Amino acid sequence: MDNQQILDKMLSGFMDFIPEKLLYNQYAPEQIKESLRENAVQPLVRDEMESVSDASGIPENGGNDGQKEPVSNEEAPPFKYDEPDHHIGLVGEKENDSYILDNSSNDEELTKKSAAKSPLSEIRIPIGAISGSNQTLYWEFGNPQLANRHLSITGRSGQGKTYFIQCLLWELAKHGISSIVIDYTDGYKKSQLEEEFKAKLGANLEQFIVLAKKFPINPFKRNQKILDEDIVILEDDSDVAERIKNVIGSIYPSLGIQQLNAIYQAVMRGMSRYDEKMNLQLLRELLEEDGSNPAKTAVSQMNLLIDKNPFDYEKNFDWSFLEKEKGKVFIIQLTGYSPDVQKMITEFVLWDLWYYKLQHGNKNLPFPVVLDEAQRLDFGNDAPSSKILVEGRKFGWSGWFSTQFLKGGFSSDAISRLQNAAVKVYFAPMENEISTIAENLTQNNAERKEWESKLKNLRKGQCIFYGPVRDRNGKLLPPRPYLVDIYPLEER
Ligand SMILES: Nc1ncnc2c1ncn2[C@@H]1O[C@H](COP(=O)(O)OP(=O)(O)OP(=O)(O)O)[C@@H](O)[C@H]1O
Ligand SMILES: [Mg+2]
Repeated sequence: MDNQQILDKMLSGFMDFIPEKLLYNQYAPEQIKESLRENAVQPLVRDEMESVSDASGIPENGGNDGQKEPVSNEEAPPFKYDEPDHHIGLVGEKENDSYILDNSSNDEELTKKSAAKSPLSEIRIPIGAISGSNQTLYWEFGNPQLANRHLSITGRSGQGKTYFIQCLLWELAKHGISSIVIDYTDGYKKSQLEEEFKAKLGANLEQFIVLAKKFPINPFKRNQKILDEDIVILEDDSDVAERIKNVIGSIYPSLGIQQLNAIYQAVMRGMSRYDEKMNLQLLRELLEEDGSNPAKTAVSQMNLLIDKNPFDYEKNFDWSFLEKEKGKVFIIQLTGYSPDVQKMITEFVLWDLWYYKLQHGNKNLPFPVVLDEAQRLDFGNDAPSSKILVEGRKFGWSGWFSTQFLKGGFSSDAISRLQNAAVKVYFAPMENEISTIAENLTQNNAERKEWESKLKNLRKGQCIFYGPVRDRNGKLLPPRPYLVDIYPLEER
């Protein structure tokens, strides 16, 4: 290892030095002179300290003695949003106002609008302090060099995954970025959310209880497929039939090829007969009409899904409110449904969002979607979660996939897709996952042992962050692991 490599390691906090305290990082004569000139009578205060460390910290740090990034009153008003022109939230107090379609502003304008507020490239999300130091570690959320804004979170029950997600949702809301949580876990019911989180977000936290109102999408809708920038065509019957077949197949893995084929054929017939008036009840009728054994088996499995009828096919709904409402957290709450029905709704909602974002998404318009307990979702080749992880970046998707375990819960394909997330956060794992995770953290044998021991000893509220951080020139360093004490909500 040459001197430069040793220095880099010291400065990146890899050795047990506190990078900020190194003379190398403290000594910035030009900046000190500058700040003394500007503030001749004032002692060195927070802002100057920040600029000193800005010029020198690797990984680049917010300064301020390791506290999270200081928000001075002049620079960033405490927490202010644009008043929405009109309420287009999912909840909608007035029935007629709830699902208004409004395409008045185009994507370019929206990008500019949000950029004016908080330039995306400057958005950094504080995670916590690098353990043993007072240095803040950031998710470099807005950095254009970041490969994608996806996040994978794993860790066994009760270690702080959902708490951590709430911290991140709040941090993004502060920057005016809205997020969506599809909750099939009951973990985001108001009664389950952290008091601090609810208090901070106030009215910017919106719950949509699907059981109470049904969800205003039609799974049989023909979406628009974009072949090239100016060539858009409508899906044909087979696209819709394939999607319905895949979603139902993922909910009922016991359905065989023949049964799935019966579903496919029934949807094909339904689409040609009813077009977009097709619905789940009609699907049941068509399968009964078919009368074959596979069709009968399919119906018997799907009865509950169909009886619950969770979709409202009549509403004229689109997702444009997501781009208009700044700094909100929308929770699509699926409490009260059985896991099968929850999964079906989630998969169809994700498909609907996928197609919406294909047209209206933009890589500079981040769109965080939280999928906690993601092992319950479909990660097959043609599932929306896979699409989000593999292709979603270009359309702004920031998929947050949280799971208690990887082994056993996912196929190897799904695990490699999850590994595609540029940032991975590990909470205390199950015993049998420790060595696999450590292998993902480092190639080096000796270091791997160290990380195994760190993983074993993680406490609640601590995590290992694996991802790229910023160096003192603003450049992203290659990803590597950091042991982090997560900042609690009260300090955010
Ligand atoms: N960083 C933290 N600071 C303070 N309290 C925390 C922190 N992390 C977690 N907690 C508390 O620990 C409890 C468990 O955390 P949480 O619900 O986030 O776990 P989880 O990993 O999501 O578990 P599960 O997989 O069972 O959903 C919560 O009551 C939460 O308030
Ligand atoms: Mg949880």
